Amino acid sequence: MTLDWDFHPLRGERVTLDLLRPDDLDDLAAMQGDPAVCRYLLYEARSREKVAEILERDAAATHLAVKGDYLQPAIRSADGRFLGTMYFELQSVEDRTAEIGWILAPHAQGQGYATEAARLLLTLAFDELGLHRVYAELDPRNTASVRTCERLGMRHEGHFVEHMWLKGEWTDTGHYALLEREWQAAMLPRQA
Ligand SMILES: CC(C)(COP(=O)(O)OP(=O)(O)OC[C@H]1O[C@@H](n2cnc3c(N)ncnc32)[C@H](O)[C@@H]1OP(=O)(O)O)[C@@H](O)C(=O)NCCC(=O)NCCS
Repeated sequence: MTLDWDFHPLRGERVTLDLLRPDDLDDLAAMQGDPAVCRYLLYEARSREKVAEILERDAAATHLAVKGDYLQPAIRSADGRFLGTMYFELQSVEDRTAEIGWILAPHAQGQGYATEAARLLLTLAFDELGLHRVYAELDPRNTASVRTCERLGMRHEGHFVEHMWLKGEWTDTGHYALLEREWQAAMLPRQA
C-alpha cells in the first residue's frame, strides 16, 4: 500500500478540523500552558515561546505518506472559534495503522466536540485513507479521555502497569483501538 495524502479541511456538523494558523497562538498558548489541561499529557505546561515554535512546526504538517507523518489540526466551531486540537499520526504504512489523540480548551469541554472531531479523523482514516486500525493511548486515570474512547466504540486492549516514568511518578498506559471493519459495522445502523 502507498499513501499520498495532502491536507484538506474535514467538516462535521458542529466542528471543522483545519490547519493551525499564526492567529491561533493566543488560544493554543492558553490551552497548552494550562497545567490542568496538561495533567495527563506527555508534556508539562508549555511557555508561549515553546507553543509558538510548536505551532509553526505543526501548521506545516500537512502530508501523510510515511511512518511518523502526522497532523495536528485545530478543532474549530461553526463560527470559527478555536476549540482545541486533534492529533493523528501514521504509525505504520504496511500495517495501515494510525494513532489518534485529542485536547480541548477548558471552555470547549463537556459538549461532545472531541468525539465529533475524532469521528472526522476516523472517517479520514478508514474511508479516505483505507487504514486498518486506529489506536489511542492514555493515562487510565484520565476518565474523560477513557469515556471518549468508549463513545467512539474503541476496544480496551491493554493496561500497561507502570509503563512510563512521567512527571515524577511511574505511570500506567491504557491502549484502545478500533478496526476498519468495526467502524464500518458501527456506521451501518446510522445510515439505515
Ligand atoms: C480528553 C478530553 C478531550 C475529553 O473532552 P470531553 O469534553 O469530555 O469530550 P467530548 O468533547 O467528546 O464531550 C463529551 C462530553 O460532553 C457531553 N455532551 C454534551 N453535549 C453533547 C453532545 N451534543 N454530543 C455529545 N456529547 C455531549 C457528553 O455527555 C460527555 O460528557 P460525559 O463524559 O460527562 O458523559 C478533555 O477532557 C481534555 O481536553 N482533557 C485535557 C487534555 C487531555 O487529557 N487529552 C487526552 C490525552 S489522552
